[in-house]
Amino acid sequence: MKITIFGTGYVGLVTGACLADVGHDVVCMDVDQAKIDKLIGGQIPIYEPGLEPIVKHNAEAGRLSFTTDTEAAVAHGELQFIAVGTPPDEDGSADLQYVLAVARAIGQHMDGYKVVVDKSTVPVGTGDKVRDAVRAELDRRGLELDFDVVSNPEFLKEGAAINDFMKPDRIVVGTDSDRARELLRETYYPFNRNHDRMIFMDIRSAELTKYAANAMLATKISFMNEIANLSERLGADVEAVRRGIGSDPRIGYHFIYPGCGYGGSCFPKDVQALARTAAGCDYEARLLNAVESVNLSQKYVLFDKVSHYFQGQLDGKVIAVWGLSFKPNTDDMREAPSRALMEALWKAGAKVQAFDPEAMSETQRIYGDQDGLTLCGTKEQALKGADALVICTEWKEFRSPDFASIAATLSEPVVFDGRNLYEADMLSRHGLIYYAIGRGRNQFQVG
Ligand code: UDX
Repeated sequence: MKITIFGTGYVGLVTGACLADVGHDVVCMDVDQAKIDKLIGGQIPIYEPGLEPIVKHNAEAGRLSFTTDTEAAVAHGELQFIAVGTPPDEDGSADLQYVLAVARAIGQHMDGYKVVVDKSTVPVGTGDKVRDAVRAELDRRGLELDFDVVSNPEFLKEGAAINDFMKPDRIVVGTDSDRARELLRETYYPFNRNHDRMIFMDIRSAELTKYAANAMLATKISFMNEIANLSERLGADVEAVRRGIGSDPRIGYHFIYPGCGYGGSCFPKDVQALARTAAGCDYEARLLNAVESVNLSQKYVLFDKVSHYFQGQLDGKVIAVWGLSFKPNTDDMREAPSRALMEALWKAGAKVQAFDPEAMSETQRIYGDQDGLTLCGTKEQALKGADALVICTEWKEFRSPDFASIAATLSEPVVFDGRNLYEADMLSRHGLIYYAIGRGRNQFQVG
């Protein structure tokens, strides 16, 4: 199958590489010449485990190529995937300008039947806008060509995207056309052989499915964070509560880990965008708004604990921060809880010595000129001369550190853990004071 992918960001590149890997003939198009040059030179602009070898292998095999030439890109694929960004507007709704620009480009250059597949996360009703944009260009050209619009949202987790694509839980396809349905079935057949993972529905339901999935997961996290905050005040241990409720299969163990808030490119943006969509149809999404508001304050829980420990005297204190990406196995810092923490620390006059296994250059890019930030090459270096340690991301290499040397290096033997990686008695054996999220008695407890 000949396939064109517009957008070589995270979703576009993973989709293009995985489709080429099963034998499809894929062209990836991007307007960013520098990005395309890098990709042609075999450089992958993002960190995603397993992506680089797949891109290289398929590019060498001639099944995956990269271009900035819109006309050639439109001419190539019977399927035209739109995988460009939908950044939030000032008011939190998704900005569709890039999606619609691709739709117009397809209308301007197509000369036969195409299926326009929306992979970007787009508000309900975008399928109609894409259809109108393609049609308007065809009208301008005086052509009556056949085309279909499909919504095919992605459910890729950063850090596990290749596996999620190759072994999907589900492949959601929203379409009103039998022809497009059969083409999508054929495209995804290699990923769908043992069990039928394809779920066909109308376009609007497919668009809403993506938002509903992310909003549900974000809700689970905010709910657990609220229970964690309550646990602290009641003298309970949220980790025991988590195991207790997760054993009920109706609740399940997934996505009920309390922490210092969710980040990333999807949950914060999608929860807000769905709430905006609701407001746009005169419906106040009270639950979604609450999910977001709990998350916004959860990102400051670590700062509050640090500040409380030092009795509000953070001026001149040096805080080691381990983990900067919004979750492990990515260098992505979008909406990362570490950012809320570091920015609050700087505001309070503290200095930060930061380490992350992958996100150092991303941190340099975002905060390069920031006073009070030292980027450290190792986690041990971050501890030198620091007064306390804060952990924001649960990278594997933080799971079993040398507690004795942490205790010996820090000027105050205190660890603030935003991901509940340890047990208090494990640390106290080494003379470390331990603050985690929602774990038993602490400064908030009443009664
Ligand atoms: C998410 C969805 O999982 C994916 O299906 C969708 O396509 C895109 O958005 P991603 O943003 O890559 O993927 O990360 P995910 O692993 O879902 O984690 C999101 C955030 O939630 C992270 O900040 C993580 O630390 C946090 N989280 C997750 C928790 O705080 N607790 C949990 O129990 C699970």
